[in-house]
Amino acid sequence: MNPNTSLLASSAADGDLAGKHIVLGLTGGIACYKSAELCRLLVKAGASVQVVMTEAATQFITPVTMQALSNRPVYSSQWDAREPNNMPHINLSREADLILIAPCSADFIARLVQGRTDELLSLLCLARPMTSVPLLVAPAMNREMWVHPATQRNMAQLQADGAVILGVGTGEQACGETGDGRMLEPAELLEDVVAFFQPKTLAGQRVLVTAGPTYEAIDPVRGITNLSSGKMGFAIARAAREAGAEVTLVAGPVALATPRGVARVDVKSAQNMLSAVVQHAQAATIFIATAAVADWRPAHAADHKIKKDGSGATPQLQFVENTDILATVAQSARAFSGALFCVGFAAESQDLLANAQAKRARKGVPLLVGNIGPATFGQDHNALLLVDAHHAIELPHASKLTLARQLVADIANRIS
Ligand code: CTP
Repeated sequence: MNPNTSLLASSAADGDLAGKHIVLGLTGGIACYKSAELCRLLVKAGASVQVVMTEAATQFITPVTMQALSNRPVYSSQWDAREPNNMPHINLSREADLILIAPCSADFIARLVQGRTDELLSLLCLARPMTSVPLLVAPAMNREMWVHPATQRNMAQLQADGAVILGVGTGEQACGETGDGRMLEPAELLEDVVAFFQPKTLAGQRVLVTAGPTYEAIDPVRGITNLSSGKMGFAIARAAREAGAEVTLVAGPVALATPRGVARVDVKSAQNMLSAVVQHAQAATIFIATAAVADWRPAHAADHKIKKDGSGATPQLQFVENTDILATVAQSARAFSGALFCVGFAAESQDLLANAQAKRARKGVPLLVGNIGPATFGQDHNALLLVDAHHAIELPHASKLTLARQLVADIANRIS
C-alpha cells in the first residue's frame, strides 16, 4: 500500500464530486474489501453512489456493507422487481454521470469485451449511452493473470471500445505473490475520478512545477532551510495534471504524496533544483516556480560535523547567493520565443501588491502570483494575488487545491 494515501485522501477537497451520480460496480475479487472505503470516499466527496454487485462480488463483501455506506439498496440482479419497468439496466445506466468498476476482475474485463449480458453489471455497461456515460475500470487480479496475453489483449480492446483503464498497483498480493495487478488504493481511485470530471484546459501542454523549500548544507548534519511545506506547488501540479497536462514536479525536501500521474524529481539544494529545472525546461511549455528557494547557501559546506571547541566561539559562516532559477529560465531562448510561459510566485510578509509588481518586472515573467508567506506556510488554505503587466486579480481565501485549479484555468486562458 502506498504509505502516503492518507495524505492523498486528505488533500481531496470535500465537495469535489458534488452533484455527480456514480454507479460503483463490484466484481469478484479480494479487492472488494477496498471498495467499501472507496464508496465512503466518493460519498464524502459529495457524490451519490449506486452500488451494483455481481454474484461473485457478494462472495467477498456483503451488499449490507455497501448499502450502509452508500445509503442506497444494492442491485445485483437484472430481474430486480423494485424497478417499476423491471429494467434496472436501463434505469441505472441512464441516471449515471459515470460508471466505475472497482474491482474489475479478469473475467469481467473479458465479459465487457464480448458484450455479455447474462448478469446486471455487464448488461448495464453495454446498455449505457456511450457518449454521455463514461466507463472507468480499475482492474484487480493476480500478477500472472494481469500479464497474460489474453488479459492484455482484452484490455487493449476495452480501451479501443471507449473505456478508461485506471491502471493497477504493484506490491504484495492476497495470494502471497508480489507484482503488478493489485487494485489501486481507494484514495488513488478517488483522485482519478475527481480528475476525470475536471475540464481539460491544458491538454497537450507540458508543465514544469517547482515546490517546497530547498536545503543548503552547512555540514553533514546541519543546514539552512525555510518553512515552505510544498503544499501549494503540489496542489498546482495536481491541478495541471487534472487539466490534462503532462506534469513534472521538481520537489525540495518535503514529505508529501506525489499527485497521481505526475512525474516527480526530488532535489535538496537550490543548485540541485536549478540543474533539474534547466534540464526539464527544455521540453516544457509552462513553468510555474512555486518553490521557496533559499536565497543564499554557505560558501563552503564542511566535510565533517563542525564541533564546539569549548571556548564559546561561534562558527563564522560565509554565504554566496544562489542562482535565481526563475529568472534564469525566464531569460532563456524558449521563454523569449514564447514557447515557454513562465509564472513566478512571491512569498511576501507585507505590501503584497507593490512587492509582487516589482518582482514580476525584475524576474521578467508575464505572470506573478503573490501570497503572504508567513500566513500560508504549512496551511491547507491560502489567498492569491495574480499580477500581470496591467492588472491584479485577487483569488480570495480558499483551499490550496481550489486556488490551484483557478490559477491553472487562468494560465490556460492566457496561453490559448
Ligand atoms: N526563485 C527562484 N530561484 C531563487 C529564488 C527565487 O526560482 N534563487 C523564484 C521562486 O520560486 C518564486 C520567485 O522566484 O517563484 C520569487 O521568490 P521569492 O522568494 O518570493 O523572492 P526572491 O526572488 O527570493 O526575492 P526576495 O527574497 O528579495 O523577496
